[in-house]
Amino acid sequence: MKLFNTKILGTGSFLPDKILTNDDIAKRVDTNHQWIVERTGIHTRRIADLSKDESPSGMAKLAALQAIEAANLTPNDIDFILVSATLPDMFFPNTACMLQHKLGITNACGALDINAACTGWLYALPMADAMIKTGVYKHILVVGSEMTSSFNNWDDRNTCILFGDGCGAVVLGRASENEDSQIYSTTLAADSTKKDHLMLQAGGACKRVTQEVLDKGENWVTMNGQEVFKSAVKTMASLSEKVIKDSGKTMEDVDWFIPHQANLRIIEAVGNRFGFPPEKVIINVDKYANTSSATIPIALDEAIREGKIKRGDNLLLAAFGAGLTAGAVFLKY
Ligand code: UT7
Repeated sequence: MKLFNTKILGTGSFLPDKILTNDDIAKRVDTNHQWIVERTGIHTRRIADLSKDESPSGMAKLAALQAIEAANLTPNDIDFILVSATLPDMFFPNTACMLQHKLGITNACGALDINAACTGWLYALPMADAMIKTGVYKHILVVGSEMTSSFNNWDDRNTCILFGDGCGAVVLGRASENEDSQIYSTTLAADSTKKDHLMLQAGGACKRVTQEVLDKGENWVTMNGQEVFKSAVKTMASLSEKVIKDSGKTMEDVDWFIPHQANLRIIEAVGNRFGFPPEKVIINVDKYANTSSATIPIALDEAIREGKIKRGDNLLLAAFGAGLTAGAVFLKY
């Protein structure tokens, strides 16, 4: 069986215009700019506006169009869509189908949502890689689109400071014979013993949204921040080490580290463990906060458009999220 190398053909991203500052949040809950910056590195986040269709699928459309254009393709060249949206447009049809419709794709391509919370986009990447590698599909759109403001409890200072809205998209395809772009190695993991540390309990089949649920606030995200923090540092570091080892390369071969953007202290703890100088680490958590599974594709797209990341660079990606899920991917762009 002939195998192909997977290449990132194009990237795109979308961030809503509306900026919410730490001072804005401090008007509602007992917090302040200095505390938020010291503990998280976050200065601002973006907030989606549904009246402008900045829904998960609406933001995905704008990011995907950029990625498709950057790949020199048209929407009908896409033959599979994978979307990670922790809170989708609605439970069904899935957000990938909504996106197919908004992109005007008429080729009846498959459209699937993946939910691994903040790790969702990174979970989708190895799946798309396997389908490209084995020749099942030629062009796969892999999107992380998140309207976290819809599950963020604006009265809970433990969580509401952390999240923001946005979307990132990539088109994956086959590298040609004379190119060396490829996904070297991937690893995905989940530790369900820690499932209760980060959750959105209500809205699914087990707990419909009733007045009682609303009164208890179970329709909002809840989190044990310290446990998530510790686990994030540990798993991102160990899974990153694993993908580097599996690729037969070393940490010195990493040109850029793009971690999930949840908290600057988590990013620094992992980066320092590998001895990465700060200029090797892509960071935008200060501007956009935690856009859940969209953080890595947004950071990737920005760094490519800014000319930081260039063709041939080796990229180490690592993420964690509710589940607790985690993953790492090492690739040549
Ligand atoms: O994609 C995954 C998403 N989740 C995460 O990445 C979360 C990972 N965890 C974290 O980022 C950190 O744990 C937080 C930023 C959430 C919290 O930082 P921390 O350094 O772990 O603070 P803490 O929870 O230990 O709280 C310290 C103090 C507490 O007060 P007392 O008990 O010491 O009096 C909190 O009540 O800070 C208080 N506090 C706040 N104070 C001002 C908690 N939130 C706030 C706030 N403003 N927003």
